[in-house]
Amino acid sequence: MILLTGATGYIGSHTWVELLARGYKVVGVDNFSNSNPLVLKRIKSLTQMEPIFHELDVGNPNLLDVFEKYPITAVIHFAALKAVGESVQKPVEYYQNNLLGLLNLLKLCRSHGVHQFVFSSSATVYHPENPVPYQENMRLGSGSPYGWSKVMSEQILRDFEMAYPALKVAYLRYFNPVGAHESGMIGEDPRGIPNNLMPYISQVAVGKRDYLSVYGGDWPTIDGTGVRDYIHVMDLAEGHVVALQYLAEKQQSITVNLGVGQGTSVLQLLSAFEIASGRKIPYRVVDRRAGDIAECYADVTLTHQLLNWKTKRSIDQMCLDAWRWQSKNPNGYES
Ligand code: UFG
Repeated sequence: MILLTGATGYIGSHTWVELLARGYKVVGVDNFSNSNPLVLKRIKSLTQMEPIFHELDVGNPNLLDVFEKYPITAVIHFAALKAVGESVQKPVEYYQNNLLGLLNLLKLCRSHGVHQFVFSSSATVYHPENPVPYQENMRLGSGSPYGWSKVMSEQILRDFEMAYPALKVAYLRYFNPVGAHESGMIGEDPRGIPNNLMPYISQVAVGKRDYLSVYGGDWPTIDGTGVRDYIHVMDLAEGHVVALQYLAEKQQSITVNLGVGQGTSVLQLLSAFEIASGRKIPYRVVDRRAGDIAECYADVTLTHQLLNWKTKRSIDQMCLDAWRWQSKNPNGYES
């Protein structure tokens, strides 16, 4: 049985659906700090299966009960705080949540003989001075406490592996996950004003916000706007399943990028979304956002080689699916 932490979050919920579709047995935990309990109902109607779930924080000692109750063989650890800007204001909360949660989980993995661990890492672990595309062996370092919490988590896991070699870890460095399940029943449902580009564009398109602020038109990029490697959340979900299979078959740890391997600018994404939604999306170019970089995209050579797997979904598909979710659920899960 697979334990998913952060199971009702954006990436957790999509991975949950993908695992169930592939016949895995899953138990999910989440403290709902950045997700909605209604996700569980949607997963049920989408999969025709009752999701097994416990409302719990990964830092809570009661997580032990979950390990005692279910025959857990693998963990996919999504649960973490993830807003870059907020982490600068609240470093203690970020280190506490992201590091103590991981440590609690690792102790339980050891005492319960869990040998497979998939970790949600991030492209933000690459030092901003590295040239793009980012390769897995490049220098690590970050510009935010959030990013450092991911660098430190990777280090904790590597130290843990040395002391407990039976445990194999997939370090999955996500680039920019966007889009939604093709049913439009689950998707990204940020609280308050979205920090990220795709949910912001979606909310402008649906009429919840007046215009998009484009952070900087003078970056050294194709059109002056920031370039990122957007990956469809269902491709990302598949990547987790493939990584689990790798750990089970090869019994080796792996560190790989999960991106498409191509950069897309803010204005390119905006125009793809206008076509997908059939709506005009007003925007204004404003100052650069603190902490941003010009370009961030993955070298996916190693990912293809080791996992023998590639992403399938295009930018157009990402926009179509994001729009289906947003237009069917203009106010997210509370719609
Ligand atoms: N952008 C805008 N306007 C907005 C929001 C974003 O112009 O309202 C621009 C940004 O400046 C950037 C691009 O759109 O050029 C993407 O920004 P996001 O906030 O969507 O994503 P980031 O690349 O800044 O950050 C994301 C995740 C982080 C993660 C990082 C890894 O939010 O958690 O990718 O590369 F660490």
